[in-house]
Amino acid sequence: MTNPTPITVARGDGIGPEIMDACLKIMQAAGAQLDIEEVRIGQAEYLNGNATGIEDKAWGSLRRTGVFFKAPLTTPQGGGYKSVNVTLRKTFGLYANVRPVMSYHPFVYTKHPHVNIAIIRENEEDLYAGIEHRQTEEVYQTLKLISRPGSERIVRYAFEYARLNHRRKVTCFTKDNIMKMTDGQFHKVFDTIGAEYPEIEKEHWIIDIGAAKAATEPEIFDVIVMPNLYGDVVSDIAAQLTGSVGLAGSANIGEKVSMFEAVHGSAPDIAGLGIANPSGLLFAGVLLLIHIKQHEAAERVRNAWLKTIEDGIHTGDVYQDGVSKRRVNTEDFTAAIIERLGQRPIMLHPVNYAAGDTGLPPATPPIRREPSHKQLVGVDMFLDWDEQGRNPDALAERLRAINGDGLELLMITNRGVKVWPDGAPETFSTDHWRCRFQTPGEDGVRPGAPITHQAIVNLLQRAHDAGLDCIKTENLYTFDGELGFSLGQGQ
Ligand code: NAI
Repeated sequence: MTNPTPITVARGDGIGPEIMDACLKIMQAAGAQLDIEEVRIGQAEYLNGNATGIEDKAWGSLRRTGVFFKAPLTTPQGGGYKSVNVTLRKTFGLYANVRPVMSYHPFVYTKHPHVNIAIIRENEEDLYAGIEHRQTEEVYQTLKLISRPGSERIVRYAFEYARLNHRRKVTCFTKDNIMKMTDGQFHKVFDTIGAEYPEIEKEHWIIDIGAAKAATEPEIFDVIVMPNLYGDVVSDIAAQLTGSVGLAGSANIGEKVSMFEAVHGSAPDIAGLGIANPSGLLFAGVLLLIHIKQHEAAERVRNAWLKTIEDGIHTGDVYQDGVSKRRVNTEDFTAAIIERLGQRPIMLHPVNYAAGDTGLPPATPPIRREPSHKQLVGVDMFLDWDEQGRNPDALAERLRAINGDGLELLMITNRGVKVWPDGAPETFSTDHWRCRFQTPGEDGVRPGAPITHQAIVNLLQRAHDAGLDCIKTENLYTFDGELGFSLGQGQ
């Protein structure tokens, strides 16, 4: 018998305590050896005035055990409460979100009977940095931050996951036809790292058509890896398609701590009624057991659950006339699974975890590289300007008057579209202008000689003296001679 593995458990809010009790009971009956430390997170903590929703002692427990089994929480509306998930993800660097979704046809209704996808979502970066600003009367901004080490880690995770789980293909979704720098480097990293896995098929889809394909022909996908926002949307679409959002669980993997949870929320509408379906959290529990290398217990739980579903013993949320045989509450469903421990499904595919056909790869540290040669070659000055009928030619005239220190106005764009020189009269202009200053190069687009930071400071001073409202600047760099900025549309 293995030594019990210490894990941290939060029973959560709403239906959380009911389904957590059910899951722990099933897992322990299956032979899982768990040394449980319970912590309090969620509504009670929020209402105690703790804006993080996490009691102090939970941090020590999570650092000690490194394994977190978390029931759903209720996030109070408004009031500056922080999302526990976002706090935990960022604090512990839980960068890989793994969500397997599959059909349980014909026992759970779905139009797509043959789906078996693992979605690997980057969990820390992208538009979730939460760095947002209102810059003018009309324009709001959010920053999309995608790092190379972050992309490398998640892409490698996806390929390692595919290898360990005998998957045949990894697909990458990005929008790099538009976001050539952020998504472009994610795609490049996918190609570079993918080359190290010759036995695995690789493909890339632009996210819009990829998501459409995932919604109509999900069976063509196997493992899909994506930046954070796309992953958020596509993983819900995929789970919904299999008719099983309530049956889905996920793992959030970091170097020191990993967290396992159901995909659904705390279902306050049915809390305390004893009818909640524990299946999503139980699947997360199975992933947890795999993570702590208790594969045999994981296999026993999963096969007993599949057999219970196959036997038509269903909670109300998945019950269907003509398919289901018995409508059960949480307690009876739990008992039915425990009764079937040691059995395997006949029509649904049984799992063989103990034979080594599954695993959750460990997190890898980010890779640091030798820095490239970085040169400052210009600046984009963003202005709030709402004068002279928003005529770009008039703005250009004022800006050319502040050229100096080698910096010359090269172009003006509005919401990314070039409006000067040679803008189209039809382009709608807001009060938010991006004005590019560079030393002119040979073709008028590539930068000329490098500039100093002092030249930018001087330019800002002259803009201020000319009564212009500069809301921010972005420096323009080259890295080993390659442009570190996009060109304006129409440039
Ligand atoms: P929800 O997922 O809790 O409920 C949506 C619907 O599905 C409800 O009708 C509910 O009764 C049903 N449902 C969900 N899980 C079920 C289960 N296991 N068995 C049977 N029926 C189930 O989503 P909702 O109502 O939008 O959110 C409720 C609370 O949960 C909110 O405070 C939200 O912030 C929180 N939430 C927490 C999550 C987490 O802790 N990871 C994730 C999503 C929401």
